[in-house]
Amino acid sequence: LVLEEKLTGPELSLIALCDGERYVLLPPAQDHKRLRDGDQGPNTGGMGVYAPAALLTDVQLEEAGRQIISATLLELARRGCPFRGALFAGLMLTPQGPKALEFNCRFGDPETQALMMQLDEDILPLLAACAAGRLPAGARLKVKDGAAVGVVLAAHGYPEAPRAGDRIDGLDQKPADGVERFFAGVKKDGSALVTAGGRVMTICAQGPSFEAARAKAYAEAGRIQFAGKQQRSDIGAGRAGA
Ligand code: GLY
Repeated sequence: LVLEEKLTGPELSLIALCDGERYVLLPPAQDHKRLRDGDQGPNTGGMGVYAPAALLTDVQLEEAGRQIISATLLELARRGCPFRGALFAGLMLTPQGPKALEFNCRFGDPETQALMMQLDEDILPLLAACAAGRLPAGARLKVKDGAAVGVVLAAHGYPEAPRAGDRIDGLDQKPADGVERFFAGVKKDGSALVTAGGRVMTICAQGPSFEAARAKAYAEAGRIQFAGKQQRSDIGAGRAGA
């Protein structure tokens, strides 16, 4: 018999770049795990994301960094296995404060697509500094104003039994400025691209406001077609301040 504390509240993805001792937080992001609008349907790897997710104040965010990321790094170092790399904490924001539900020693998908577009500096020097254990003390990331929104296009049958081989149309036209297509479950079939995995691609847009980014992401997502395409139409709809 396993008894667990029941936690309630919105979820937040907090990813930190760590050098074994020091860390720098990427903007908080919110993933949408359920397949269908309104958080209905089966759980997936993530159907869409927006960042920054203003679910915590800057002060609360710094505190979460100290209590969750820093405490974890300190304990890992104490045990003789200091952690360098991307530490992803899946948080639940409960009435008692943020609680860590899980850790991943990797970036998040689709969080990272949005976060890379929101970043206003080259991430490679930061990753190199993490690997070398030389992140500058008190480092802060340069991020753009506004927001980034990512919409996942998933294959027919995802998540139970994704269908492969559906031809993807609408890729000839270049995406608008500030819009990227991040390919995942695709493969080449002659001159065409076809589906080859559950989450086929993430369409991500950055803009001066959440609304602008969301409109651009959905405009591009609508241009791309394949049989059985699944996408949510409510990414970020329940965000704080919406
Ligand atoms: N988006 C959740 C994950 O990467 O685990």
